Amino acid sequence: MALIPEKFLEILGIKKIEEKELVAKKLIGSSEENGEVKEIINPYTKQPTTKYVKCNIEDAKRALEVAKNAFENTKKSTLAQRIAWIEDVAKKLQEKKEEFAKYITLEVAKPISHARVEVERCIENLKICAAEGYHILGETIPTDATFTGAKTTAFYKRVPAGVVVAITPFNFPLNLVAHKLGPALITGNSVVLKPTPEAPYTAYAFAKLFIESEYAIKDALSVVYGDADVGSTLVTSPIPRVISFTGSVAVGKIITQSAGIKKVSLELGGNAATFIESSANLDYAASRCAVGAFANSGQVCISLQRIYVDEKVYEEFAKKLGDEASKLKVGNPFEEDTFMGPLINEEAAIRAENWIKSAVSEGARIIAGGKREGNILYPTILADVTDDMKIVCEEVFAPIVSLVKVRGYEEAVEKMNNSPYGLQYSMFSNRVDLMNRAIEDFEAGGVIINDIPTLRFDIQPYGGIKLSGIGREGPKFAIEEMTEIKSIIIR
Ligand code: SIN
Repeated sequence: MALIPEKFLEILGIKKIEEKELVAKKLIGSSEENGEVKEIINPYTKQPTTKYVKCNIEDAKRALEVAKNAFENTKKSTLAQRIAWIEDVAKKLQEKKEEFAKYITLEVAKPISHARVEVERCIENLKICAAEGYHILGETIPTDATFTGAKTTAFYKRVPAGVVVAITPFNFPLNLVAHKLGPALITGNSVVLKPTPEAPYTAYAFAKLFIESEYAIKDALSVVYGDADVGSTLVTSPIPRVISFTGSVAVGKIITQSAGIKKVSLELGGNAATFIESSANLDYAASRCAVGAFANSGQVCISLQRIYVDEKVYEEFAKKLGDEASKLKVGNPFEEDTFMGPLINEEAAIRAENWIKSAVSEGARIIAGGKREGNILYPTILADVTDDMKIVCEEVFAPIVSLVKVRGYEEAVEKMNNSPYGLQYSMFSNRVDLMNRAIEDFEAGGVIINDIPTLRFDIQPYGGIKLSGIGREGPKFAIEEMTEIKSIIIR
């Protein structure tokens, strides 16, 4: 069985790379003469970690052709083979988990302890996906309930949709790739993956686990590295039947406008919020909110950005949250006890700093952080924030959280829902009546009671409403996005 499909080699001109050699100036992609070389600079050390050659529009077209031809085989493959395939990738990742954690830290400066969590999540995610393979079921339909439907047998089955284009972001450069490759491949699709330009090596090494598996289906997975021109070629082509994208609202809008008639699954950002109700355990809420706001330097689609606090406990909660933030170790992501590293680049840090300045000029009060050193922005808590400030209205994607004082549950719900986004919301409270109401009232794809909105279990449905996206991830749910229902009648 083919280990690395020939076409994949042809597209990328991949040389055999030993992962353990991942040091400065590693070249991935085709040869340097063939295209623009991009160097990945570690956001903390500012040292180069990898180099790759960007693919161009022609590469993207060829990858699509490879996937189109491969689909003829993937759709005929057995589920048993595909389950064995995904299980094998999970096993291989388990064996290399420390290496993969290091790739993540090297490329995006996620603190090493958090990178390890991402790898563990990814292994589990793949295992769940393989197990979901056994549940890609159909249903019989009682046609004799209809006027003319007697004496027929009818049922539906799920069939692979076709070529899937998967476009992934930098903030979880491994697990968000798994959230697309796993469901797409277990259902018999072929895939063209375009990983984030910020962390291509992690995705490349992961894709290699799929491609080199003894259970791999030839050419089922291709990877193209590049920028918007490559993404646009993939999205607008008539070849793919599914576009699965995680990233910004701006790009999500372009995709919906340009993809044409195909399935589009979008996980876009949000300005996740929580309500601290007056009966909440404030110590617990403050310690969890510090994690929700500052983990991964706030570069999480469900990062806690807005905290609505009942006026009765506002000052007390603000003090506790400030104390929690001051305990977090900020700095070198390679050190074991670092909680928060830099933002992905200095531009992102400067943008966030400017948003803080503008909030302060409009009356917000800094109660922690607010300081930037290069691309590190210290965990920042703003109090006295009002509804119209950009810092709460738009997705901040940085370690900044805003406190807004409210008079009770109703005002919190009104303010929380007054957002163009709706990914995940939460509430801390000991009142069961309010818990039940929040489940109904919060306008979001996910509602979490007594924890942060930044909570995600990979087995769950995950996705948003409003500008936060279309469709759901989580293996069982992404499998639905990546299959078509075929309806069958026998008479
Ligand atoms: C995201 O940023 O959307 C992913 C969050 C997660 O998987 O924890």
